[in-house]
Amino acid sequence: MEPGVPHPAVTSSAERRFRVLVGVTGSVAALKLPLLVSRLSDVPGMWKRRSDPVLHIDLRRWADLMLVAPLDANTLGKVASGICDNLLTCVIRAWDRSKPLLFCPAMNTAMWEHPLTAQQVGQLKAFGYVEIPCVAKKLVCGDQGLGAMAEVETIVDKVKEVLSQHGGVQQS
Ligand SMILES: Cc1cc2nc3c(=O)[nH]c(=O)nc-3n(C[C@H](O)[C@H](O)[C@H](O)COP(=O)(O)O)c2cc1C
Repeated sequence: MEPGVPHPAVTSSAERRFRVLVGVTGSVAALKLPLLVSRLSDVPGMWKRRSDPVLHIDLRRWADLMLVAPLDANTLGKVASGICDNLLTCVIRAWDRSKPLLFCPAMNTAMWEHPLTAQQVGQLKAFGYVEIPCVAKKLVCGDQGLGAMAEVETIVDKVKEVLSQHGGVQQS
């Protein structure tokens, strides 16, 4: 909760604000984080900051939606098998699955094409999480193929769509 701010449950629909928790992993696509966060901040009704202590259970309560962007191969594997050895994976492990969790895989094409990837993405989808699929392009490493994180605008549009399904996003 933000100090002095009513909980969403007691806030009128016209004033409803949404809290999106963005998880970031060690993909080169993390370079897009400033743009992604800046564009998400433009979504009407989005909270701009959080000042309370950062603990994984506080965060799972605080957020209305979780976005993991980029989700690298390492954390994908951890989440699929339940490993929770850092703050991000603990929040995901404790996630309230009645709330949406969106993930944006991003990895080299060779990693993407490994059969483990499809298994693990399938496992996350089976948990009810929403995949924002990676795209094919020339990757930062120079390889060409699938594995690049979805475009920022695609991600923001999907966040808005899912938020609107869970109570509506204020229109600008
Ligand atoms: C420059 C650089 C770029 C990387 N890009 C990716 C990537 O796009 N996708 C990926 O799965 N791993 C990538 N890695 C490897 C991850 O950073 C590594 O697996 C790390 O242990 C992930 O830790 P985390 O999941 O806790 O963030 C990259 C590593 C480096 C050094």
